[in-house]
Amino acid sequence: MSSLIFVFLIVLFTDDGVLVRGGNSEINFDQNYKVIWGDNHAVSLNQGTEIQLLMDNSSGAGIGSKMDYGSGFFHLRIKVPGNDSAGVVTAYYMSSQGSSSRHDELDFELLGNREEKPYILQTNVFADDGGNREQKLKLWFDPRQDFHDYQILWNQHHIVFFVDNIPIRVFKNMSNIGVSYPTKPMQIHASLWDGDSWATDGGRTKINWSSAPFKAYFQGFDVKGCEVLQNSSDIQHCDSDKYQWNTPSFWQLDPVRQRQYEDVKTRYMIYDYCTDRKRNPTPPLECQH
Ligand SMILES: *[C@@H]1O[C@H](CO)[C@@H](O)[C@H](O)[C@H]1NC(C)=O
Ligand SMILES: *[C@@H]1O[C@H](CO)[C@@H](O)[C@H](O)[C@H]1NC(C)=O
Ligand SMILES: *[C@@H]1O[C@H](CO)[C@@H](O)[C@H](O)[C@H]1NC(C)=O
Ligand SMILES: *[C@@H]1O[C@H](CO)[C@@H](O)[C@H](O)[C@H]1NC(C)=O
Ligand SMILES: *[C@@H]1O[C@H](CO)[C@@H](O)[C@H](O)[C@H]1NC(C)=O
Repeated sequence: MSSLIFVFLIVLFTDDGVLVRGGNSEINFDQNYKVIWGDNHAVSLNQGTEIQLLMDNSSGAGIGSKMDYGSGFFHLRIKVPGNDSAGVVTAYYMSSQGSSSRHDELDFELLGNREEKPYILQTNVFADDGGNREQKLKLWFDPRQDFHDYQILWNQHHIVFFVDNIPIRVFKNMSNIGVSYPTKPMQIHASLWDGDSWATDGGRTKINWSSAPFKAYFQGFDVKGCEVLQNSSDIQHCDSDKYQWNTPSFWQLDPVRQRQYEDVKTRYMIYDYCTDRKRNPTPPLECQH
């Protein structure tokens, strides 16, 4: 009996457990990432396994992957700026090259707040368009206190945003009914920037620069993704089931994760573009299913 349970646990762990939990967090930043902007506002810590981004009144900073990817199960461990961080945005996102209106992008944006007020997590999905698919959640923890894992699963079947392995958003491939779905190679990005024109209370709560410099910390620079050449239109090979995140157990949420997801939506979601009738008198197609 106990050996049966043991075998079962091993299977669970080797199936999606390892993948979902992320892997080797000892990987050096330089192996897969580089600083993209705000060079002197990025500091390497712990032998390069951790990066601190700083923002003061002269600059924020951003990092990005060296490679482009066509599918994967991505993650970063993040600790956001503490104390009064109103107006400060810590972002972790996947993005296709260029800034045309036909753009693919998957966003986590942690919206800073006054010290006594909670952070809000915003997500967005751009699929060959301008996005406008914001959702906002209260978090069930204070992201200033510790590192948490923010994950994006991207395969042909769906895109799932997770926080600490809990699904918080699912964007299904509904191209069969005419909803666009990301098709372009994307890079991984993270940044710390001044969003005080919109981020906190719709832009009414401003950055208090006497709290600067703001500091965000990042770990987990291992990447589980299918590499593609920059600007390549050939990402077909990224659908191959030689990549674990493309195998059937990743095509939809299992019953446990489905329940977690329902629970998050019920208890923590505070804004959903799908139900914003002012903005979308007719719900967007993907919201009708
Ligand atoms: C930026 O911050 C520095 C240090 O706090 C201060 O000396 C400087 O005046 C500030 N500059 C602006 C443009 O606010
Ligand atoms: C918050 O403020 C306190 C007091 O000014 C300071 O000691 C501490 O380092 C700050 N924490 C962070 C995360 O900035
Ligand atoms: C890829 O496309 C972007 C935007 O069109 C361009 O800025 C970049 O230089 C291109 N990269 C390569 C390697 O061609
Ligand atoms: C979306 O799903 C369809 C099948 O319904 C598939 O043919 C297509 O390749 C998928 N799109 C992407 C970008 O993976
Ligand atoms: C900004 O921070 C300083 C120092 O903590 C504080 O004295 C001041 O009241 C704050 N301003 C606002 C608008 O909260």
